[in-house]
Amino acid sequence: MFAERVLSGMRPTGRLHLGHYHGVLKNWVKLQAEYPCLFFAADWHALTTDYDNPKGIEASVWEMIVDWLAAGVDPAQATIFIQSRVPEHAELHLLMSMMTPQGWLERVPTYKDQQEKLSHKDLSTYGFLGYPLLMSADILIYRADKVPVGEDQLPHVEFTRELARRFNHMYGREPGFEEKAKEAIKKLGSKRAKLYDEFRTRFQQNGDEEGLALGKALLEEAQNLSMGDRERLYGYLEGSGKMILVEPGALLTEASRMPGLDGQKMSKSYGNTIFLREEAESLNKKIRTMQTDPARVRRTDPGDPEKCPVWQFHVIYSDEPTRNWVTQGCKSAGIGCIECKQPVIDAVLKEQDAMRERAQPYLDDPSLVKSIVADGCDKARKLAQETMREVRDAMGLSYS
Ligand code: TRP
Ligand code: SF4
Repeated sequence: MFAERVLSGMRPTGRLHLGHYHGVLKNWVKLQAEYPCLFFAADWHALTTDYDNPKGIEASVWEMIVDWLAAGVDPAQATIFIQSRVPEHAELHLLMSMMTPQGWLERVPTYKDQQEKLSHKDLSTYGFLGYPLLMSADILIYRADKVPVGEDQLPHVEFTRELARRFNHMYGREPGFEEKAKEAIKKLGSKRAKLYDEFRTRFQQNGDEEGLALGKALLEEAQNLSMGDRERLYGYLEGSGKMILVEPGALLTEASRMPGLDGQKMSKSYGNTIFLREEAESLNKKIRTMQTDPARVRRTDPGDPEKCPVWQFHVIYSDEPTRNWVTQGCKSAGIGCIECKQPVIDAVLKEQDAMRERAQPYLDDPSLVKSIVADGCDKARKLAQETMREVRDAMGLSYS
């Protein structure tokens, strides 16, 4: 119903690795060409688990953003910003915390899971419990209708939808809603106003979905409406109150097939990563020493690519003739593992050359990154402030 908008955030964890690239960033790069996109460094989220050690967060944020740029996230197409530089996220988080049932947060599946997984940390904090609510504020404050996330984050997007519904239901019926809606209809101009009434009646009285669709299309075309009036008219058309917060949809990101050097998921905590801009020498070493099919003890032992993490790299990086060469050579012991790894090394190096090149200007002059982010923060903040005006208004806090 509103303009389409994509929003996604990433926790700063320092230098990114190939898992991030194939799992998240490639998708962002694709999306930025299709929709207006907002991508942010979720620095407050880092504090929900690392509150006892905040010192590294800032450096991690800058490193991460350079890696985004290196991967092809383009500041001319997407808005790049830092969560804590848009303090409106915190205000929305606070206001929503007043009407968020505690049980909803306790029942978010990641709550207990993460507490158990990170049992070396004391996560019985208010901030950790509220983490999905903070994420909801991140999303709702931009009225983003598309949120690309991995499967693990889906419950949070669902939680956000429920919260938006609860909020709209609770505060959407501003005093004098009907009168304000009728005033707004007049602003459509007499011809449009008549059509709007007609479409609304069709939907409200006869449940005619086409009436609803036509009404929405009419509002989309009406250029001269203020944001507030537009929302009122959407709400009035649908029979709900005023739609203040937009229910987002998740864009499920396919799980990355990028394994780590040991065949497990690539993850910093497993120490099995290849960085996005890995130095050539260490890249060579990492791949040369990476695990292969354990059955190939000697060069003359045949192997099975299906049992070898190197094969997963060939699936991502190699063309068909190369893959056939691997399969045959491995099963017949016709090639050695080092030989087999060379095309992977070459392909990763080539992919990274492009990233290195894109990153270089930012490494030479870090003020470029700062100014990209400063611009992004300004843009994001304008959007966030607009939503906050509506939210305060709806909650009776506008003091005008
Ligand atoms: N919680 C997400 C993660 O850990 C990061 C995140 C924070 C996010 N806020 C968001 C993702 C808003 C999408 C939208 O990966
Ligand atoms: Fe793995 Fe290639 Fe060695 Fe076969 S030849 S075990 S696929 S590295």
